[in-house]
Amino acid sequence: MVNLIIFGPPGAGKGTQSVRIAQKYQLKHISTGEILREEVRIESKCGRVAKVYMDEGKLVPDEVLINILRRVIDENRYVNGFIFDGFPRTLVQAEELDKMLHHEDLSISLVLSLIVDHEELIERLYKRALQEGRADDKARVIHQRLETYNKMTAPLLDYFEAQGKLATVPGIGTIDDIFQSLYSNIDKLYH
Ligand code: AP5
Ligand code: MG
Repeated sequence: MVNLIIFGPPGAGKGTQSVRIAQKYQLKHISTGEILREEVRIESKCGRVAKVYMDEGKLVPDEVLINILRRVIDENRYVNGFIFDGFPRTLVQAEELDKMLHHEDLSISLVLSLIVDHEELIERLYKRALQEGRADDKARVIHQRLETYNKMTAPLLDYFEAQGKLATVPGIGTIDDIFQSLYSNIDKLYH
């Protein structure tokens, strides 16, 4: 079973590329951002907690995320594998994910890290703000999300590197070209 993490800052293209990867390799796409937005929409208890952090571009507490992941992994016992998008974002989350998978005799196969420069990220997110109106695509929150990524999440790259699981992929260019680079890395896992 192949389990992937797609990693990168806000606007890197994690969601865009995950959908394609999930389709090509028949993997279950787990976007914690999407799960949380749905919890906010239905005003669940966890959604009400999450909203406070999401509106500020801060990380939702690890405990909330770990409970969600536990539920999602449990509900998807018979899938071919997972692609995790937006999770893990802290060392605690990364260690918990490894533990949860280990418990099921599984592990992360590969971490695909999308590299996109700051200006391009800002441009993409400002553009999406005009097109889609996602609640956290506001100038102030976009900057806070990028800062949170740099401070809290980017250091995880060392953790993945130390595990020998990190593949870095340029995230600039056409969506198709980036997908090609991603799948040339993923294909190696199947051979
Ligand atoms: P989340 O939903 O994960 O948001 P994010 O990390 O800020 O990233 P985005 O979804 O904005 O970007 P993306 O990398 O998916 O890029 P996309 O494909 O959309 O998280 C939201 C919030 O939830 C967090 O701030 C936090 O509060 C909370 N949260 C979530 N997970 C958490 C966790 N594990 N722990 C704690 N809190 C958590 O692309 C962006 C745009 O660019 C799109 O418009 C797209 O069409 C465009 N685009 C994509 N590729 C290209 C390309 N090659 N060229 C030009 N444009 C492109
Ligand atoms: Mg996304």
